[in-house]
Amino acid sequence: MFSQIEQLLKEVNSFYPKSKEELEAFRVKYLGKKGLLSSLFNGLKEAAPHDKKSAGLSINNLKNAVLNKINSHKNTFEQVIKKNSIDTSRPIRLNSFGSRHPISLIKNQIIDIFKKIGFGISEGPEIEDDWHNFSALNLPKEHPARDMQDTFFLQTNPDLLLRTHTSSVQVRHMENNPPPIRTISPGRVYRNEVISARAHCLFHQIEGLYIDERVSFADLKQTIMYFAKEMFGEETRIRLRPSFFPFTEPSAEVDIYWGLKNDSDYRITKGTGWLEILGCGMVDPNVLENCKINSKTHSGFAFGMGIERIAMLKYGVTDLRLFFENDVRFLKQFSAL
Ligand code: DAH
Repeated sequence: MFSQIEQLLKEVNSFYPKSKEELEAFRVKYLGKKGLLSSLFNGLKEAAPHDKKSAGLSINNLKNAVLNKINSHKNTFEQVIKKNSIDTSRPIRLNSFGSRHPISLIKNQIIDIFKKIGFGISEGPEIEDDWHNFSALNLPKEHPARDMQDTFFLQTNPDLLLRTHTSSVQVRHMENNPPPIRTISPGRVYRNEVISARAHCLFHQIEGLYIDERVSFADLKQTIMYFAKEMFGEETRIRLRPSFFPFTEPSAEVDIYWGLKNDSDYRITKGTGWLEILGCGMVDPNVLENCKINSKTHSGFAFGMGIERIAMLKYGVTDLRLFFENDVRFLKQFSAL
């Protein structure tokens, strides 16, 4: 009996199934009802009493070897089966790479629109000095128009402030580049405002500047019209309302016709159907001179718009604060754009 068990143990140990079926046959051969192990266990009854214990141990040992063999190979076959059962026609599940922030989406869109007509991009510092943010732009100290923009000043140096608009980049660009100039300047700006659905202490603007010989108001209007149509659709209508900015003369605010189709249109356009999208004007000769550009030979136009405002209109967002809260439920909605 012992030599038979030993022989079987050798057999078991050297057994390597090539298929699931072979493994099953092996299982039946050893563990089946009429299998070798049950006949060995039956045989125990006839064993000599002093052999019973060690014979039992040996049979158990053999049984364990059989079970180990089956278990270790069962897994390999299951894996193979799983591999082969991959359905290659199933649509793939794309990994989620996150989404661009709506402010970045709109900013990039605006940049692309102006790039197409030859505008480059310029940037300036967010901590700005009085000259670039105010004085050079025809806003001397004590000028009441400074009140239009509530400013954060730096406590350590009263000449420094967080820029209140990207118009400061106009000045820097003109100081450092001779005309002709065609540039847009996107960036963050800061104002000391109470945070609400319509105002924030931090927001984004894009400034535009065009300086050359004989640039006219008609050029400005045409450029803004092109922009409005690219941004809001070919059918878009614009109107220019006279306005005031210290750095442009004449100045205008531009509205697009939004329509009065529903309650919300009435609310956001205050019943007029028109919505303001930007401020603009012909660069004041004083500003040109402040930036060492000859106002006798050169003229130009400038415009500035809030990116949040455009984004709110494009995406139907009614609360400005959503852009700054980074709530993924809000941001995820832009992942397809
Ligand atoms: N800087 C103005 C603001 O922040 C926007 C603006 C208006 C910019 C007219 C311009 C401009 O360049 O010509 O409210």
